[in-house]
Amino acid sequence: MSTSQNPIGQLLLKSMLRLLIGENKLQFYETIDWQHQSDRFRQPNLIYPHYYSSQNFHGIEGGYLNSVAAITYDPVTAFASPPNEAWIRQQLIGVIKNQPRKILDLGCGTGSATLMLKQAFGQANVIGLDLSPYMLVVADYKAQQAGLNIEWLHGLAEATGFEEASFDLVTASFLLHETPPKISQFILRECFRLLKPGGQLIILDGNQKRLRHAKWLIKIFKEPYSTVYAAESVDDWMKTAGLEAVQTEYVGWINQVTSGIKIN
Ligand SMILES: C[S@@+](CC[C@H](N)C(=O)[O-])C[C@H]1O[C@@H](n2cnc3c(N)ncnc32)[C@H](O)[C@@H]1O
Repeated sequence: MSTSQNPIGQLLLKSMLRLLIGENKLQFYETIDWQHQSDRFRQPNLIYPHYYSSQNFHGIEGGYLNSVAAITYDPVTAFASPPNEAWIRQQLIGVIKNQPRKILDLGCGTGSATLMLKQAFGQANVIGLDLSPYMLVVADYKAQQAGLNIEWLHGLAEATGFEEASFDLVTASFLLHETPPKISQFILRECFRLLKPGGQLIILDGNQKRLRHAKWLIKIFKEPYSTVYAAESVDDWMKTAGLEAVQTEYVGWINQVTSGIKIN
């Protein structure tokens, strides 16, 4: 019997969620019509790639294509980003070189980084793109609560459909460890294509050197692609994609920020 059919399992899940996200948010998530809300973002012609739709990311059935992923993502991420999630995310903002006017946040999820980008660059046009319409529902709710005007798009990071050279800054936080290395490299190539000359790409993700020796952590969080992610180098991938002045800084206990510039 699955938890969804088991009343005791449901009660336990609800109590755990109440603890993690608080009563108010739980009530909001319980009362919204997920189908209707996610339909506001859903691109009907989008075909989910097999590497995405076939995985139960973080042990959630259906992975990001399940509203439970969207509800639980923020509280779990707070635990998974030691010593402090906001500080870790601030390190990405801290390496931004210029005043970007057009910003794209790929794999934006529930929008935590996207909101910070808009808060840091209020005049900029900020777009968050993600494959999960459920994550976008939460991102949009958070932006509305914060009074921030951000555009949310349902789409593929490796094939966004935007015109080339249309962004000053492209970011991706905690996206590349969620995709097979081949796809991560396609995503970085797409980032290069999307940047204007002089534009900047910044990737915040797991510290690959550390994660190689922390297989237990990858197992706990039930990450399907983190082992292969950790075996490679975002720094090298970015150089191969054409970026220059590539630099990686290790931040916090298990994270890294890599920045590169598209010169021409
Ligand atoms: C670990 S979450 C990171 C969310 C957010 N960027 C953050 O910093 O918290 C990974 C997100 O990437 C999205 N994702 C995974 N593969 C993707 C792809 N190929 N294109 C767009 N989004 C993708 C997932 O749906 C999920 O929301």
